[in-house]
Amino acid sequence: MKDAPAQPKRRRSGRARLLLGGVCAAAIAVSSVALVNFAYADLSGPPGTTLKAAAERSGRYFGAAMGGDRLNDSGFLTIANREFDMMTAVNEMKPDATEPNSGQFTFTAGDAIYTWATQHGMRVRGHTLAWHAQQPRFWAGLSGSSLRTAMIEHINGVMAHYKGKLAYWDVVNEAFAENGSRRQSNLQNTGNDWIEAAFRTARTADPSVKLCYNDYNIENWTYAKTQGVYNMIKDFKTRGVPIDCVGLQTHFTGGSSLPSNFQTTLSSFAALGVDVALTEADVTNASTTQYAGLTQACANVPRCVGITTWGIRDSDSWRGSENPLLFDRNSNPKPAYTSVLNALNTATTTVPGTSTSPSTPVSTPPSSPSSSPPSSPPGSPSASGQPGACTATFRMVNTWDGGFQGEVTVANNGSATINGWTVRLTLAGGQSIANIWNGVNTGTSGAVTVRNAAYNATVGANASTTFGFLVNGSTGTAPGIGACTSP
Ligand code: G3I
Repeated sequence: MKDAPAQPKRRRSGRARLLLGGVCAAAIAVSSVALVNFAYADLSGPPGTTLKAAAERSGRYFGAAMGGDRLNDSGFLTIANREFDMMTAVNEMKPDATEPNSGQFTFTAGDAIYTWATQHGMRVRGHTLAWHAQQPRFWAGLSGSSLRTAMIEHINGVMAHYKGKLAYWDVVNEAFAENGSRRQSNLQNTGNDWIEAAFRTARTADPSVKLCYNDYNIENWTYAKTQGVYNMIKDFKTRGVPIDCVGLQTHFTGGSSLPSNFQTTLSSFAALGVDVALTEADVTNASTTQYAGLTQACANVPRCVGITTWGIRDSDSWRGSENPLLFDRNSNPKPAYTSVLNALNTATTTVPGTSTSPSTPVSTPPSSPSSSPPSSPPGSPSASGQPGACTATFRMVNTWDGGFQGEVTVANNGSATINGWTVRLTLAGGQSIANIWNGVNTGTSGAVTVRNAAYNATVGANASTTFGFLVNGSTGTAPGIGACTSP
């Protein structure tokens, strides 16, 4: 990222800083489905020796951001492939990049990053759909309802292209001012409801992806901006505005530091019924204590699903002069790398829905429901697939008002190893799959096909494997389980 960074301004407190933040649709076909959740927690396993392995022990991911120019940088790609399991495009999926002219979408640059990342086993965070910066030039000539319409059409256009492909979308980025009020912007001037309009549009455009609000300087729980964002999320959850996650950028640079109450901030957001993630982490001079602390805070909060650093090596950073990342300019891991690795490996909480251990209860719904699970869960409905090379059996893992978590065991009852499997599910009306792991789905509602992920295709004789998924919609109606076929 050899860009010109925005100039930081110090907050009055001095403890945190302000970060200022062609018509060739589908030029590169986005071909693979990236909804597989590689996180499958097992705290009893050996310590991870890479960032992603250490994060995955507790069902978390460890991500990085990359610009398109890094696709020709073998040093970057080697580390990315080895250490990271989530990728964010630095600029390539932003509004100015994806819709340079009205109604003319171009995904070439974003797709190139998406394709590389998914071909190397990573999931992808979409960044970002609506922001006061990096807007299409034609938005500058719009206001009021015409700008609102342009924003909605932009969200629809971009999300249609990436539908079913991304793990998360930063739907709205940096919409709050430091005093906790809304940031003044052309989008804000279209009406205070512009953020919820963006999220409602996004949910309809792609019900499969988790929808996030993303911002900086919201790490300190007592800071006005944090409270402003918190109150908006609380209001959204109360009124049913669709939102699944909050991204805390976690730029601790230029003298700002890790607030001692960071974990309180994360757990407070999570208590509203959203996932939280650290989305753009970097720390001045890569302080080992601050990197360890921010990682520990995430690892201590079950719904903190992962950490992304904004670049990989100091030479990739938008603030390279501050050397804020985990790898130096020669691609060597810095001391902060070890502190992050250790903190990940000592995590004691797992992301709900990812634990392999029956002794680790899934106590919190992992998607967006805000209410408690019903006191008497429906009696474990189960159904078996038709006889064949494999059978499929459903188990209801957890339910709550508005959704459930299910698990399907794919068993090979034969005497020969199978190599590949497919299970057909039928969801009840109004239900849709919000997330799936250890399997790759086609469709999210009605008739859904789930096939093996790349790493669990092979099932030995008399052995089994499982995949899991989250469903939004009516509670308690188990999906119909059709035939399990192989391959
Ligand atoms: O591509 C042009 C190039 O052709 C031109 O020669 C050069 C001249 O300055 O500019 C290049 O564009 C730059 C672009 O990055 C690509 O490198 C822009 O000037 C520069 O402003 C832009 O900066 C990006 C910044 O967002 C814009 O706000 C950074 O790369 C990117 O890392 C940064 O990312 C943001 C997140 O989206 C939101 N949170 C804060 C974070 C850091 O600022």
